[in-house]
Amino acid sequence: MTPQAPATTATRPPVMSVRGLTKDFTSGGLFSRARHRALNAVDLDIPHGRIVALVGESGSGKSTLARCLARLEQPTRGEIRLDGQDVLRTRKRGASRAYRGAVQMVFQDPFGSLNPVHRVEHFLRRPLLLHGKPAQESDLRALMTTVGLDADMLQSYPHELSGGQRQRVAVARALAVDPRLVLADEPTSMLDVSVRVGILNLMRRLRDERSISMLYITHDLASARYVADTIQVLFAGELVEGGDSLALMDRPGHPYTQLLLSAVPDPERTEPYDPVRRAALRAAVLTPESCPYAAEGTCSRTTPVRHVIGEDDGEPHWVRCHLYAPATPTARRVLTAAVPETENG
Ligand SMILES: Nc1ncnc2c1ncn2[C@@H]1O[C@H](COP(=O)(O)OP(=O)(O)O)[C@@H](O)[C@H]1O
Ligand SMILES: [Mg+2]
Repeated sequence: MTPQAPATTATRPPVMSVRGLTKDFTSGGLFSRARHRALNAVDLDIPHGRIVALVGESGSGKSTLARCLARLEQPTRGEIRLDGQDVLRTRKRGASRAYRGAVQMVFQDPFGSLNPVHRVEHFLRRPLLLHGKPAQESDLRALMTTVGLDADMLQSYPHELSGGQRQRVAVARALAVDPRLVLADEPTSMLDVSVRVGILNLMRRLRDERSISMLYITHDLASARYVADTIQVLFAGELVEGGDSLALMDRPGHPYTQLLLSAVPDPERTEPYDPVRRAALRAAVLTPESCPYAAEGTCSRTTPVRHVIGEDDGEPHWVRCHLYAPATPTARRVLTAAVPETENG
């Protein structure tokens, strides 16, 4: 069971609210410019004190979304609100520093993200100093304890730590400035399987004990179910389904979600891995005929409509019309990308 956050969180406005977020990348020279849409019209709310999982295969746009939300990347279009404030249009002095304090990121690679010449202490002290906060030794030690590390490790160098320990330092660094929201981009995918669950448990604890909101990015639906309150599925730069984690895993509505799920090992599922079924699922994602909403005439290729197919604890379970957009070149690229068929971690 995924522990649920207190019911009161549902009534508070979301910490972050994203509307119509679109990101285009351009490439090529002056006369051969090609535009590539990495994100298209993403709508996403991250409620207070909740973990939202963003799930999708490699290349679906997960990191681009995280980078836009962290303001490391400028969106082409759309709106990002932090506590109701439209952050892309705020020009106030210091607003950007305040934003970077409120929204922290944990990256995928715990080996590349910590400069090897510094002791652990440096990584925790620096964000505090940058944000003009006192960096007391006792605060640093408390941070270490919060993330499950021995406080004496403040004097260690990154190479003296394991991958899991480094990722805990990265989490401590993110927590140092008391963020409202942590964006964790595949924080466990480069760690040994044996230490992954420790990081996931740490995230759950931070939510439950400190009401920290999190966007947990992963390609692994099983870990999303384990850690997140809700799951949002990203396919080719567009959200195609969302809802309560358990409900979404029990009753996936979109063929793309079904495809992702078919790769998740499930002890209760007895039938063997079936490559023919998986190929059929993969094909169905791009087949307009597979869309049950097409006949209703309620949506079209140009009008994205979210169909609500259930509700759990006040959380709507919605699925987007399969007809809308999936047949784009980006969608084909994501679907045919070399994703190992048995991939799960
Ligand atoms: N800086 C960039 N310039 C051009 N294309 C990019 C850039 N960053 C990402 N992309 C493209 O955007 C798409 C989504 O990438 P990404 O967000 O990294 O996906 P994910 O994190 O889900 O694997 C990919 O097709 C990728 O090639
Ligand atoms: Mg990525």
